[in-house]
Amino acid sequence: MLELRDIALRWDHRPLLDGVNLRVGAGQTVALLGASGSGKSTLLKLVAGIESPERGSVLFDGEDITRTPPHRRGFALMFQDFALFPHLDVQDNVAFGLVEQGVPRAAARERARDMLQRFGLGALVRSRVTTLSGGEQQRVALARALITRPRALLLDEPFSALDAVLREQLRSEFRERIAEAGIAAILVTHDEAEARAMAQHGWALEGGMLHPLW
Ligand SMILES: Nc1ncnc2c1ncn2[C@@H]1O[C@H](COP(=O)(O)OP(=O)(O)OP(=O)(O)O)[C@@H](O)[C@H]1O
Ligand SMILES: [Mg+2]
Repeated sequence: MLELRDIALRWDHRPLLDGVNLRVGAGQTVALLGASGSGKSTLLKLVAGIESPERGSVLFDGEDITRTPPHRRGFALMFQDFALFPHLDVQDNVAFGLVEQGVPRAAARERARDMLQRFGLGALVRSRVTTLSGGEQQRVALARALITRPRALLLDEPFSALDAVLREQLRSEFRERIAEAGIAAILVTHDEAEARAMAQHGWALEGGMLHPLW
């Protein structure tokens, strides 16, 4: 269970987040909606550990991780502009996180190939990522995010660069993969239909607080 308790943060002397409470259980996806500039990305950065709150705490399974550095949280991030590494092929992009964790390269590549196979991307393992379509790139990015078996997945507008047809296709695909992984996921999106299709609960960030939508 990922939990935010009374999170507050000012920006430019004005409260941006002002008492945010949120709970996301394992296997659950929660969507955050809200106007541009309302602080959605900032809130995700706080969960990731890239930003620190002035007040409040972040907990995972009851443990206070507010001061834990990002790489020790066991969370995976997928941001819209979190590009794949253009100089690596698909399998090495996916294997990257495992190699960083000290898994030998050959074993990491094998696990990456297995995962790509399951994601229906088996034919692309040796492709340069620059030759992939936008949808394929996002699927590879999800595989890369999930391969290290994160405890939580943070998605910031993952489909905003894609056309409407592809977005709809990826919604259900991502929802299934996230459910399979059994992790807590937070999805930030501007698209309410997308949020409803992917998340069990939706919240609107407004005035620095979360208001329940569904
Ligand atoms: N490092 C930072 N920490 C906190 N707030 C920041 C930081 N950098 C910029 N801001 C400001 O915080 C406000 C919220 O930004 P944020 O990116 O979180 O909004 P958002 O809800 O994600 O918007 P969008 O929907 O456009 O992506 C903006 O006014 C922004 O200028
Ligand atoms: Mg944002």
